[in-house]
Amino acid sequence: MDRIRIIGGAPLKGSIPVSGAKNAALPLMIASLLTSDTLVLENVPRLSDVRMLKRILNNHGVGIGVAGKRPGETVEDGERVSLSAASIVDTLAPYDLVSQMRASFWVIAPLLARMGEAKVSLPGGCAIGTRPVDLLLMALERLGASIEIDAGYVIAKAPSGGLRGGEIDFPKVTVGGTHTALMAAVLANGSTLIRNAAREPEVTDLAECLVKMGARIKGIGTATLEIDGVGKLGGTTHRVLPDRIEAGTYAFAAAMAGGDVTLEGISPTLLQAALDKLAQSGAEVIDTGTGIRVRSTGRDIAPVDVTTEAFPGFPTDLQAQFMALMTRANGTSHITETIFENRFMHVQELARFGARIRLDGDRAIVEGVPSLKGAPVMATDLRASVSLVIAALAAEGETMISRVYHLDRGFEGLESKLMRCGAQVERIRA
Ligand code: EPZ
Repeated sequence: MDRIRIIGGAPLKGSIPVSGAKNAALPLMIASLLTSDTLVLENVPRLSDVRMLKRILNNHGVGIGVAGKRPGETVEDGERVSLSAASIVDTLAPYDLVSQMRASFWVIAPLLARMGEAKVSLPGGCAIGTRPVDLLLMALERLGASIEIDAGYVIAKAPSGGLRGGEIDFPKVTVGGTHTALMAAVLANGSTLIRNAAREPEVTDLAECLVKMGARIKGIGTATLEIDGVGKLGGTTHRVLPDRIEAGTYAFAAAMAGGDVTLEGISPTLLQAALDKLAQSGAEVIDTGTGIRVRSTGRDIAPVDVTTEAFPGFPTDLQAQFMALMTRANGTSHITETIFENRFMHVQELARFGARIRLDGDRAIVEGVPSLKGAPVMATDLRASVSLVIAALAAEGETMISRVYHLDRGFEGLESKLMRCGAQVERIRA
């Protein structure tokens, strides 16, 4: 297993191109199952989760092509991926594939909408909580599907005339639930109303792509989505939106290690709540018009309390990274996690750097320390692992991070992006 060695202490200076968002690319790729025409996605990040989803979609019969580099294109432009589900050969998504990545469970919606049936293994994914799928199944039932769970599989069947429009009231905001409801409703007979829909930018990106494919969706970007089902969707070309979590991660890293970093190709509106907290901690955050510049002022990091919320609130996917920043604050901060019940696995690893963090239910109490010291640490889940990278960049001396396959799931070109800002980072291949 690869490891990453980081020698900390150097300020980060330079610019980092922001990749396409993993959490937008995955549902967009799955949406290719909704049409027999070709869906072309641009700016797809090169990540192991994307590779895994390609395998899963292949298994259903989706033909996938990746365009070669075009003149002027750099590796930072992401891939141009064509997905063609001209014929779906299998509506079964097996355990060995779905258990590796939770988002792959979402294939249930387009398979059901287009083929009238799907058998999908219950999902796996990052171990950050129980992560049930009850709300996703409730949404499908509201559209007329019958659902049965048997031997670890969800067996979903549409009524004989196909899915029909209905009302879906989510009791809590769910990103995957909203993706599922949208992909099922666009091909259903009649209208669907989704209340308390997730407003995450990745949901908006999916909805906008579906509209380009011929779907009729009103209320995009709001909590109430109205969908008029259509008989058929077609192909289109769509550019995956920039990764707000990647951008926020490097923004926090720049603030913690000191320095001046510009995140290219992302609008601050995608992560305003996180940038506001960063500014409160004392960093300068500047909208450059083409990106976000984060400059540390050299003053102490101020303690700032954070509570994770659905968009537009502070994202749970940046909680671990913000906690890393707060370990060096000049005082005590409180970090409350409201989305997932077990998303504090980074706490014990951050402690290896000398961080002082106490847990009290869904709240972490972080007592800032004047300096951290490099240590051997272990990546536990995707976002937790990158919080260790941030801490390592700011710590004195050497840190060795093991189990970095977690990082490869969600951070494209992590080492090269940090190295171009002067960080001492090295991957040690197994
Ligand atoms: C998406 O997960 C993201 N994954 C997560 O990012 C992200 O943390 C999460 O949304 C919240 O923003 C992808 O987009 C691939 P949810 P998802 O359904 O859709 C509960 C990362 O690191 N819930 O919005 O699985 C659930 O347990 C990942 O990139 C139910 O109770 O999250 C959680 O408490 C990690 N029943 C809350 O809702 C359900 O049926 C929100 O989950 C579904 C969800």
